Amino acid sequence: MFLNEHLPDDTGDLKELILTISRLGKSIKDGFLLNQGVADTQNMYGETQVEMDKWADKVLVDGLRNLPFVASLSSEERDDVIYCSKDGRYSVTFDPLDGSSLMGINLTVGTIVGIFENPDPFRPGSEMVGAMYILYGPLTTLTYTIGKGIHEFVLDKDGNYLLQHENLIVGESKIYAPGALRKEWLPFHTRFIERMEKEGYKLRFCGSFVADVHQIIHKGGVFTYPASIGKDQGKLRLLFEANPMGFIIHHAGGSISNGDMDILKIIPEKLDQRVPIYIGGKKEISIVEEEKKKEASL
Ligand code: AHG
Ligand code: MN
Ligand code: MN
Repeated sequence: MFLNEHLPDDTGDLKELILTISRLGKSIKDGFLLNQGVADTQNMYGETQVEMDKWADKVLVDGLRNLPFVASLSSEERDDVIYCSKDGRYSVTFDPLDGSSLMGINLTVGTIVGIFENPDPFRPGSEMVGAMYILYGPLTTLTYTIGKGIHEFVLDKDGNYLLQHENLIVGESKIYAPGALRKEWLPFHTRFIERMEKEGYKLRFCGSFVADVHQIIHKGGVFTYPASIGKDQGKLRLLFEANPMGFIIHHAGGSISNGDMDILKIIPEKLDQRVPIYIGGKKEISIVEEEKKKEASL
């Protein structure tokens, strides 16, 4: 079964939106060879952009901004929301290229997308009507949810997305991904990681959030990019990384937390809002929140 057959017809423009993004993913993929360099610009986080960040961002903005049902676009690579059709129904938030630091060493990177049926993108992740990610690795895969399970497709030799896994559920393996610098970890995070290691969890961290979380979805465990000394909101972005991947893992039976609460309940206050991230199996997330609570009583 192909993506266009799997997406229900009764979702109208949402189906068309997801299919359009799937096509844009192919253009992004085709741009890797010609956009290997580092750009001489920075994004609003002060991070030097790689050419692929800007290429992927341009492909998505140019490909989506004129669709009549798109109300707004918000990109990790832009300082402001791009308001589009005043009659539009959907707001799209995206990290055009996640894992940019891996460009040039040929590890897997991806595009992360969230979709709200609301002209206002500053809504809690739980209000999303859809989310997806495209992974550019040995295979190009696309995983989406519209709230009824998560489903994974592989780009075949004819350029069609062919269903590979339907209704994926977070695995049971013991894997943990410990972001940030160990010497800057806060005590509760150190306690949590040591507890994972004591329980036999294996370290797997590649520097691409979307690829690391994809592994956690398939195999199980937990990915963390925590708050650390001097960075109380961690590194990763609420709108562009946490919410879409959190919405997806939620529909695969997993959870996402900032250590205290479900991230999908956070009402965003600003476009470049960061959030400490713990994302994975329900068991691991409950352990994190338990360790954090203990901290409060110390
Ligand atoms: P992006 O390339 O969109 O800026 O995201 C990079 C993020 C995330 O993908 C990854 O988990 C994290 O940065 C890695 O950060 P460190 O290099 O600090 O480990
Ligand atoms: Mn990213
Ligand atoms: Mn990015």
